[in-house]
Amino acid sequence: MDSSEIERLLAAYYDKDMHYESGKILGSMYSTPPEPVLRAFFKFYQANLGNPGLYPGTVEMEREVVKFLLRLTSGQASYFGHVVSGGTEANIMALWAARNMGYRRILATEDVHFSVLKAANLLSLPVQYVPMRDFVMDTQALEDMLQDRDIVVLTAGTTPTGYIDPVEDVARVCRTLNCYIHVDAAFGGFVIPFLYPEIKFGFNTEGVKSVTIDPHKMGMAPYPAGGIVARENIFKSIEIDAPYLSTGKNAGLLGTRQSGSVAAAYAAILHFGMEGYRTMVKECMANTKYLWSRAKEEGFEVLADPVLNILNIRVGEVNKVREKLFKMGWGISTYPKYSSLRIVVMPHITREVIDTFLKDLKKVG
Ligand SMILES: Cc1ncc(COP(=O)(O)O)c(C=O)c1O
Repeated sequence: MDSSEIERLLAAYYDKDMHYESGKILGSMYSTPPEPVLRAFFKFYQANLGNPGLYPGTVEMEREVVKFLLRLTSGQASYFGHVVSGGTEANIMALWAARNMGYRRILATEDVHFSVLKAANLLSLPVQYVPMRDFVMDTQALEDMLQDRDIVVLTAGTTPTGYIDPVEDVARVCRTLNCYIHVDAAFGGFVIPFLYPEIKFGFNTEGVKSVTIDPHKMGMAPYPAGGIVARENIFKSIEIDAPYLSTGKNAGLLGTRQSGSVAAAYAAILHFGMEGYRTMVKECMANTKYLWSRAKEEGFEVLADPVLNILNIRVGEVNKVREKLFKMGWGISTYPKYSSLRIVVMPHITREVIDTFLKDLKKVG
């Protein structure tokens, strides 16, 4: 086929997909990255950090990204980390390392991301749910359940509500035992430092051993760009011989790694910087509060006051409402457990989008 025919065919598929530019994707933690970031992706799209000896430049960029992730998580430049494909891979790597280091059971709340359950399944680790209070882990309940060699997975910005598990309180409860604390800040890691610098969710709490923090969510990098950072070199415990590679070792889940996204994540960090991220995050939070008050004005019930830029609107027959909204062009996620529509107020969710959405929701909700 010639290129125009290929493009014509691809365009037909492209038109079937939803696009962030329409503003109508309300349930995703992603937004279109700025142009220089996308250019970085294509410049490096053939780099493969699965074989790092061939790509020393990309290795250096990965280290720069990890240093920034460590800054957001109150780590030190000497700590360890990797840019990976997403929060799922990051959580799997942390739990894999924890298991190989001798930790035996996962404790988390029901609002933990499903990737933790996936990791538990892969690693044959049992999971015990800790009851919640006000959408976060109940520390008192945890205290009654905790045993030596447990892995406590906390979420800083849960997927359903954006609430933040009490990392400091949990660490205090864990202090007398040998436990592994992993914090999943896949979403919140690029939000909390800018809205609530006083909240400790990372390495400034003793006992936190690893943190997931994803550039491809609020870091405005293109997929696939997750991040895993750790106080010690936990990755040693999952290292395996890979004799045909330049390094002779491999310490991750994947072999070949798409590494254009490492360059893109680095470009995103350069593009926004701390100030740029702060401005963007504050704008998202202001729009979340706008959605919250407008939804209440329109007579909708809001599940919980927003802490981060995630809001749940409660409706009856939530899956039917989602289907009707989908037919009107809206991509939204639902939490049947909370009977709610969940909106992640990313940068493409402007006040204009919010007003149009609420008008449509009134028709079907
Ligand atoms: C808190 C949390 N952790 C992990 C993940 C998984 O991230 P990914 O989809 O990038 O694998 C998500 C995704 O929404 C999430 O919200």
